[in-house]
Amino acid sequence: MPRPLLIAPSILAADFGQFAEEAARAEAAGGDWLHVDVMDGHFVPNLTIGPDVVRALRKATKLPLDVHLMVERPDSFAPVFVEAGADWLTIHVESQGDVAGTLRAIRASGKRPGLSFKPATPVSALEPLLGLVDLVLVMTVNPGFGGQDFIESALDKVKALAVLRDERKLDFHIEVDGGITARTVGACVRAGANAIVAGTALFRAPDMARAIAAFRGAC
Ligand code: DX5
Ligand code: ZN
Repeated sequence: MPRPLLIAPSILAADFGQFAEEAARAEAAGGDWLHVDVMDGHFVPNLTIGPDVVRALRKATKLPLDVHLMVERPDSFAPVFVEAGADWLTIHVESQGDVAGTLRAIRASGKRPGLSFKPATPVSALEPLLGLVDLVLVMTVNPGFGGQDFIESALDKVKALAVLRDERKLDFHIEVDGGITARTVGACVRAGANAIVAGTALFRAPDMARAIAAFRGAC
């Protein structure tokens, strides 16, 4: 059965002075999830959103919160973001601590575990962990900042993950994140992605509903 196309506007590109209104805008425009980028200034050279903001977003929208933890120690932070209201919680394979144990803990708390990896990390690094996740997030830029150019070679990773999923009869969404526009989204979906994160192309569009419709039309 084909997987639904899920569009996840990334709050990183929103107006940080108006998170509640921006979350409501993503929901009204037809977003499926709200993507929330958490950065700790160690794992990536940027600092963004903490649990109190996630708690506020939880009140501001009915959209599932797709929280992307770009932090060095997800083992200490995952429980905090579960408690704050994350629905999907994605951690990085390159992070420190017990990655498998953290994925299991996310599932045990009733939330959906996801695993991500940087452009320089091969798919093989994820293989032993694929049975533990409901989502694999393929970074299509180097994590840290919005507004970067899409890295074309990441499409091969999307294809490889789709093949592995079939071969091993696994069940996870394939999500892409970084530099996604109406021009790049079609190639991602054709490669096998079904969850699409976009910050700049959606929050900075003059009309987010039209921008989301253009994404759906391009797939
Ligand atoms: C980058 C973040 C992305 C970011 C994407 O580290 O993980 O989610 O918001 O932003 P755009 O769509 O502007 O590339
Ligand atoms: Zn992200």
